[in-house]
Order: sequence, then C-alpha cells, then structure tokens
Amino acid sequence: MERRMHVLPVHPEGICRMPSLSRLKLVPARSATKCNIGPSTADRDLRDVNQELLLARLAAQDQRSAAESALERQLKASTILAHELRNGLAPIQAASDLLGRTDGIDAPTLARLQAVIDRNTKDLSRLIEDLLDYSRANTGQFHLERRLVDLSEVVRDAVSSCLPAMELRSQKLTVNAPRGVILLDADPVRLRQIFVNLLDNACKYTPVGGSISITALSRPGSAEVSVCDTGIGISSDILPHIFDLFVQDTRGCATNSRGLGVGLAVVRELVQAHGGTITAQSAGRTCGSKFSATFPWHGSAADTTP
Ligand SMILES: Nc1ncnc2c1ncn2[C@@H]1O[C@H](COP(=O)(O)OP(=O)(O)OP(=O)(O)O)[C@@H](O)[C@H]1O
Ligand SMILES: [Mg+2]
Repeated sequence: MERRMHVLPVHPEGICRMPSLSRLKLVPARSATKCNIGPSTADRDLRDVNQELLLARLAAQDQRSAAESALERQLKASTILAHELRNGLAPIQAASDLLGRTDGIDAPTLARLQAVIDRNTKDLSRLIEDLLDYSRANTGQFHLERRLVDLSEVVRDAVSSCLPAMELRSQKLTVNAPRGVILLDADPVRLRQIFVNLLDNACKYTPVGGSISITALSRPGSAEVSVCDTGIGISSDILPHIFDLFVQDTRGCATNSRGLGVGLAVVRELVQAHGGTITAQSAGRTCGSKFSATFPWHGSAADTTP
C-alpha cells in the first residue's frame, strides 16, 4: 500500500546549506516496505530533513537581513561622505569666485579668503587621510613601521600638539606618565595619531574650563593609556557603537559641528593593528568619558640592559 508522506513546504531560495541532507536515503514508500525499512525510520528521516530545511531557511533569512543592513549602512555612509565633501568644497569654490573678481580685492579680504581655503583644504585632506587609513586597515594594506618606542615619550609628544587647543578653551590638562621607560614594539607615528585623536575629542567634547587627563601605565604583560574628561559624556545607546564608522552622538554634534565620526573608527583600527584593544566608558550625559587603549607590553628600559 502506498503511503503519503507530508513534507513541510520550504522555498528553495531559503536554503543556504543542508549539512546532513545527504544522510537521507530517498527510498520510495512502497519499496521501503519491500526493503523492510520500517515506516517509523522513514518518517524520522523526513522529519529530520524538514527540520534541517527550516533551520537552513532561518539562517538564510538572517544572512539576508545582515546583508540588507550592511547595504543600508554603506548607502548612509556614502550620503554622509558626499554631504561632507560638498560642505568642504563649497567655501573653497566661493573663495575662488571672489578671487576671480576683476574689481580688485583688499588685503584683509584676501587674507580671509586664504584662511577659508586653507582651513577647508586641511579639513578635507584630514578626512580623506582618515578614510584611507580606515580602508587600508580593512583591506589588510595597513603597514606599521614598528620599532621599540617609549610610550611615555609618545604620550608627551601627542600632548604637546593638543595643548594649544585646550589652552584656547581654558581646559586643565593633567599628564600622568611614569618616570621609567615603558617600551612598546610599535609605530610611533601611528601611536601618536591614536593619542592625538583621543585628546582632540576630549578637547572638542569638554566645555570651556573643563578638565582632561591622560595617563600611561604598565601592568603585567600590558601597557595602558587612558584619556579622561569631564565633558558632555556619551549616551548609553550610542556607547556600544562609538567606534563604528560615521557614528556620532547627535548631542555632541550639536555642540560642535565639525567632524564626521571617522576618528574613533580609525583609532580602533590602529590600536588593533598594534595587537591592542580599546574601550570607551561614560556614565552618560554630562558625566564625562574615558577611553582606554591597552597594548602588549614589551618591557621596561631595565629589561633591555644586559
Ligand atoms: N571624549 C568624548 N566625549 C564625548 N563624546 C565623544 C568623545 N569622543 C568621541 N565622542 C563622540 O563620539 C563620536 C565619534 O567620535 P569620532 O572621533 O569618531 O568623530 P568626530 O570627532 O565626530 O569627527 P572626526 O571624524 O573629525 O574625528 C563623536 O561625534 C562624539 O559624539
Ligand atoms: Mg574625533
């Protein structure tokens, strides 16, 4: 007697992998009886396969929605970038139009136009450099010029380039670096770039008169640099994504219109390229922020002496 087998409908597009489908012996029901394969065995096999098909379909749906959100993020990123490039180019174009006027330009106007062109080309160049760094890091083309460097020295170097901006905002900066040498096997230029980015953010997102500190210390097996500020803090919903490309806390943007949300994404890539990790902490609005980068420690100066 012919038995009817019910297979749950599964759309073939939904199947991305069927790991153990090959286990199923497709035996017609009639011959199953002939071959003395018990109906319960055939039913069980079919049930298993149906289950696998359903799981495969669910996995395919997950993959599809992940791909869709990746595409959405990419489109959003392209839109932001296009806007940012246009915003940077517009003042340059305007300055160029004014310079082209035939009725002459006085010296102060000339200086102002030159400053506009200078500032906007610098901003655009930095944006392009950051994006290139990010893209190089993600395509494995990032090259570190590693050598033994003293972490405290790199920290002091980064501080010296950020200090003028902090002074302009009457911010108090404290530098805590140990007297001894903390040796890292690192690229000093990239290491400096990490700390400058963190200090630059601390300055931008801390109100006038606020406090910022940078601390370098060595722990067993690692060295850590943290930047703390008493600034506007980061919202708890944004915090877990703060190192993602183009992510900004909109409250932060409102107080400071410059920037695109690229700096921290680059910082994370640079830290990871050094075999390190980076974390961000903030108790929320107006509670300040703390960024800590941890690097594999190479030793102290004493370790290197024979
Ligand atoms: N110290 C900080 N305090 C408060 N918010 C911060 C701090 N550092 C970063 N953020 C938040 O994280 C966002 C991303 O920082 P990121 O450095 O990537 O971009 P950005 O500073 O906006 O622009 P840029 O690409 O020029 O660095 C900022 O827009 C801001 O909302
Ligand atoms: Mg920044």
